[in-house]
Amino acid sequence: MISRIETKCIYGNGKKYDKDKTGAISFPIYQSATFAHPEVGESTGYDYSRLQNPTREHLEEVVASLENGIDALAFSSGMAAITALMEIFKPKDHIITDSDLYGGAIRLFDNISEKNGIEFSHIDCTKYNIESYINENTKAIYIETPTNPMMNIIDIRKVSEIAKKHNLLLIVDNTFLTPYFQHPFELGADIIIHSGTKFLGGHNDTLAGFIIVNSEELSEKLRFIIKTVGSGLAPFDSWLILRGIKTLPLRMEKAQENAKAVAEFLINEEKILNVYYPGIKGTESYEICSKQADGFGSMITFETESKELALHILKSTKIIPFAESLGGTETLLTYPSTQTHADVPEDIRIKNGITDRILRLSAGIEAKEDIIADLKQAIDSFNERG
Ligand SMILES: Cc1ncc(COP(=O)(O)O)c(C=O)c1O
Repeated sequence: MISRIETKCIYGNGKKYDKDKTGAISFPIYQSATFAHPEVGESTGYDYSRLQNPTREHLEEVVASLENGIDALAFSSGMAAITALMEIFKPKDHIITDSDLYGGAIRLFDNISEKNGIEFSHIDCTKYNIESYINENTKAIYIETPTNPMMNIIDIRKVSEIAKKHNLLLIVDNTFLTPYFQHPFELGADIIIHSGTKFLGGHNDTLAGFIIVNSEELSEKLRFIIKTVGSGLAPFDSWLILRGIKTLPLRMEKAQENAKAVAEFLINEEKILNVYYPGIKGTESYEICSKQADGFGSMITFETESKELALHILKSTKIIPFAESLGGTETLLTYPSTQTHADVPEDIRIKNGITDRILRLSAGIEAKEDIIADLKQAIDSFNERG
């Protein structure tokens, strides 16, 4: 019955719930750790909130419907989701990842997952020479697209062909474009990851993470993991993310409109050397992104002419906060080299282009004129300073 994502954001798959008899339109927050059993050997379907909680379950149904998956699991953060996902692998398993990933994911892989015996090759997946890194222990390919922070676009269909040929799982972090703009399952992915902290929640007020799958086997494995490791999302946070998702389409459209205007402004600024935004026509990223997604999102990375200018912008904006994170109502400026990507080994960081002149901007939903005026006064005051 429900076919459009705008409607799914509000009702999920449309299943009317009968858990609450009050007729509450806003899904109730079942703030309960445990649930009484009617009789010995009987259950209401809810036993203990680490296993299942009605508010979290409703959120999971909504997110599964947005990504057209058969199951979605809600975690206490994006990193909790990725950490739980690593539990489907065993020592000596080998995973190929793109080299430009959120720094926290690289920190997890190289310090914790590797200690647990999982092996990694971090390669530039935009070169599509992935096959030369596949060995008999390779089990998965892990990518973000657009990548964080350099905004590279990876052709998901192309990578999925390689993954299918070698019987590997393709894991796609869809945080930046969200199911509003991009549907990785339709492009051949097997597992989708989200930092729900970002666009899904959308208000910079809580953390969340998701794993979405389209196979019963993966769903069963991950359900066992989430109840065992205990990193499921709490009821109140589940409710905040549910509320955020209701306005996802409106926020994505407005933030994208703002990002396009900011990118155009930055391109014309003399002291900004490079602007990385997939919505810039004439680039390879634009071509691939146009083919596989319905939009370009609202994340922009740009290179200033000097480290001093980058630092000056960060301390001179009057509205835009200098803060980690992205995807919320507020436009944020981030300095990847000392924040989100500080733990990526320096040689890899520099190779990826994450120098100390790189700034990342997440466009919010304010008036674009105000965002641009704020950036302009920050850049111009450096010029004036000399
Ligand atoms: C692309 C991407 N994936 C995953 C994460 C981790 O999510 P969280 O901060 O919710 O743990 C982030 C965080 O910035 C991210 O940008």
